Amino acid sequence: MKVTLSVIKADIGSIGGHICPSRQLLQTVREHVAGAGKSLLVDNYISHTGDDIAILMTHTRGVGDKAIHKLAWDAFVAGTEMAKSQGLYGAGQDLLKDAFSGNVRGMGPASAELEFDERPNEPFLFFAADKTDPGAFNLPLYLAFADPMNTPGLMLAPSLGQGFRFVIMDVNHTAGDRVIELDAPDELYAIAALLRDTERYVVDSVWSRATGLQAVTASTSRLHNIAGKYTGKDDPVMLVRVQKDFPATGEILAPYALGPYVAGCMRGSHQMPLMPVGLDSGISYFDGPPVISCAAFAMHEGRLTEAVDAFAHPFWDTVRQQVSHKAVDMRRQGFFGAAMLPMAELEYTGIMEKLQQLEERFVVRA
Ligand code: F6R
Ligand code: MG
Ligand code: MG
Repeated sequence: MKVTLSVIKADIGSIGGHICPSRQLLQTVREHVAGAGKSLLVDNYISHTGDDIAILMTHTRGVGDKAIHKLAWDAFVAGTEMAKSQGLYGAGQDLLKDAFSGNVRGMGPASAELEFDERPNEPFLFFAADKTDPGAFNLPLYLAFADPMNTPGLMLAPSLGQGFRFVIMDVNHTAGDRVIELDAPDELYAIAALLRDTERYVVDSVWSRATGLQAVTASTSRLHNIAGKYTGKDDPVMLVRVQKDFPATGEILAPYALGPYVAGCMRGSHQMPLMPVGLDSGISYFDGPPVISCAAFAMHEGRLTEAVDAFAHPFWDTVRQQVSHKAVDMRRQGFFGAAMLPMAELEYTGIMEKLQQLEERFVVRA
């Protein structure tokens, strides 16, 4: 059976600043999807990561389907009404356009979609990150799909040994999707050269070279590229098919033990380590740290099992401690050097006006 997985997520308001949505807000979104989605969806799973609500849907309508996107958009519009009625902070903040125009892309919400022939056993992972941007997936995906130091399957499993194709997007190009296809391992250094620049080049998708099947789809939207100013971080989502001809779940999860520094956290303007957290958890320290959750599923004819929390295992408690130490260490240097993002990223915030005023006071000494 051909199944489509669509995940569409947005920040439409939260309690106590940018911590997490209210129960009633989540309930409103759930009820809308259950009602309006009845004839469209096979199944759905609605969760939050930090202040973002993600609607994961299974259906048979293919990617980019107008009715599916409208269902999610309308659920977020209904949620926004509830958020306003409760006085939640940032109510509707990611709904950047007034009227729906066929697809949520370019309208604020992030989306990632995959269509495939369901296997007899169909395991997949749904990742959602908050207080960071799509570049946060660059290193974990590189390690999982291109580095045998992380993924022994690249050496040990014949189909994985043929490598993977990375589709990488230049997110600075706003006139359309500017992408490049690069094959691992043949073009490893080219892939590395692009993926190191996490604010400009992000992974759009990853494909098996042995089977031609798609393993990964990730959201690539940059809110400041849409709004032209800072309206919140781009808090990405990602779907990853696992096992057999794809890396094992453990190979996909392993890179998150690094707690790599990513862009985001307070005012979307810092470099802070990415913490793997449990499902439906909030945000705290310094409007962060940036977090990533992972729900593991099996699926049959589009019907989902319950979500299993991939970062709930005690192993990740130690990682969270290490990430906390990294976060506090970095914060000790405040805004200096690597602690804050480079000017090109900050230019969407209010700092440009401040610098403009100072420009006039500069003098060239005789
Ligand atoms: C980060 C984020 C927060 C806010 C910060 C200030 O993505 O959303 O760190 O930037 O709390 O928010 P405002 O300007 O809304 O008071
Ligand atoms: Mg927010
Ligand atoms: Mg968020």
